[in-house]
Amino acid sequence: MMRVVCPGSFNPVTRGHLDIFERCAALFDEVVVVVVHNPLKAYSVPAERRAAWIRRATAHLHNLSVSHHGGLLADFVRAAGASAIVKGLRNQNDLLGEAQMYFANRELLGGLDTLFLPTREPFVYLSSSLVRDIASHGGDIAPFVPDGVAQEVAQAYRMAAPPSTVTGIEKNDPINKGETT
Ligand code: PNS
Repeated sequence: MMRVVCPGSFNPVTRGHLDIFERCAALFDEVVVVVVHNPLKAYSVPAERRAAWIRRATAHLHNLSVSHHGGLLADFVRAAGASAIVKGLRNQNDLLGEAQMYFANRELLGGLDTLFLPTREPFVYLSSSLVRDIASHGGDIAPFVPDGVAQEVAQAYRMAAPPSTVTGIEKNDPINKGETT
């Protein structure tokens, strides 16, 4: 029996994350997705709520459960009795940070491995920060987040965003003055 842990901030969950969860659910006996608090990042939405969105988006995956955790990932993985960590990897920009986490977790977990699943093509340029940015400006995030969570996610990040400071065209804007540069 192989149980794996899929950790992340999932701030918020995207269609790219969902693709990784679905592939994991097909590959392994049990999948535990865990929303982990990364102390280097500021979250405007609590981990419990981010986990609830994932739970709703993955209701069709019967061998997958969702938790949240506020400490070391290694402690969660040990307590879960998992055989490996699985993460998605989009591109070389992800690689250095992921490699650092891989080595740290391998040390902390006595050799337990992290497996990387390459992100599939439609999701390579998708990120949670992109979704937050679009949502904060009131844009449509439905193409980027799993079905059934878009409205709540949009509302959460729209409310979290500071009020827009753009109210009109500046007087000295060259475009407004008709300059062609
Ligand atoms: O989605 P992210 O932000 O890339 O996920 C990173 C995360 C949250 C999985 C990572 O920062 C993490 O595991 N944080 C918990 C603290 C920890 O265990 N740090 C030590 C080695 S990674």
